[in-house]
Amino acid sequence: MAQYKFHEPVLPAEIIDLLVRRPGIYVDGTLGGGGHSQAILRAILEAGYGEGSLLIGIDQDDAALHEAAESLRGYDAMTVLVKGNFKGIEGIVKSVCGAKGLKPKVAGILLDLGVSSFQIDSAERGFSYFREGPLDMRMDRETTLCAGDIVNTYEEKELARLFYRYGEEPRSRSIARAIVAYRLKNGSVLGTQDLAGIIRDNATGRDKIIKTLSRVFQALRIEVNGELDVLRHALYDGIDCLDNHGRMAVISYHSLEDRIVKTVFAEKAWSDWGPKGVGLREPLARGTVSLITRKPLVATQQEIAANPRARSAKLRVIEKIS
Ligand SMILES: C[S@@+](CC[C@H](N)C(=O)[O-])C[C@H]1O[C@@H](n2cnc3c(N)ncnc32)[C@H](O)[C@@H]1O
Repeated sequence: MAQYKFHEPVLPAEIIDLLVRRPGIYVDGTLGGGGHSQAILRAILEAGYGEGSLLIGIDQDDAALHEAAESLRGYDAMTVLVKGNFKGIEGIVKSVCGAKGLKPKVAGILLDLGVSSFQIDSAERGFSYFREGPLDMRMDRETTLCAGDIVNTYEEKELARLFYRYGEEPRSRSIARAIVAYRLKNGSVLGTQDLAGIIRDNATGRDKIIKTLSRVFQALRIEVNGELDVLRHALYDGIDCLDNHGRMAVISYHSLEDRIVKTVFAEKAWSDWGPKGVGLREPLARGTVSLITRKPLVATQQEIAANPRARSAKLRVIEKIS
């Protein structure tokens, strides 16, 4: 297995196998350190698809783009890296293809959701509940809303709703209450360790504490980056960008993301055969994608042992059929 210092890609063999099937335009909407992109480009060349292929790599984080530019050096002629949010995938594909005189029809799209190991390990980004840092959590540091704004200005009810909705946290109300009490006493919650301390005081048992920390931090990260809304957007618009038989692969890491992917894919795959028993020869409306993975693919024990981040990964793939 190749060694990546920035971020070890998850399910790389499955992504290559299910996504790279012909020459064409490939979009990596979550470039990160470029690990998946590198594997996709290598597979394109090994399959002899180099002629007529292009990889568009998108990330909203400047640090990721910088790292990916390094790791994809050597593939310059086949890559275009774009700073942006994958919710704008359609516009990005159109503008890159327009500039290159290509038809904006895509052979493969990858979304490997969430944050990279590098982002989590960078204390100053505020994603980690183990490291002292500011309550930031923005993937795109040009946006304005930070986790600290939420923690220090949302009302108790709004905080509780957020922790419950985006973290599925059972102690959402008592944590929200404790945050507001801390604000009244100390003025504001300053950094990740202040917040982690409040959460720790409201959970018991080591396992529970870790899970609670992880759920509350997840909820804040989702709110800061609008993660679920942009995902929904990108799935619909991404499917619209696909060429006939083009594929989209999405790796999600928690149930809220996976539920959205599963629901949108099922909705797009659904054909309307009218009321039961009518026996139509043709559906009234035909689905526009087929499900390549009926159940999500997960990592092998071997991959999880080498890359613990793969533990919660779920991969779903669809193919455009019209
Ligand atoms: C899990 S990492 C991807 C790692 C990558 N597959 C690799 O092999 O290195 C997710 C990356 O996607 C980026 N990202 C997450 N949501 C995004 C969005 N809505 N638009 C653009 N980039 C996003 C993050 O900044 C992060 O760099």
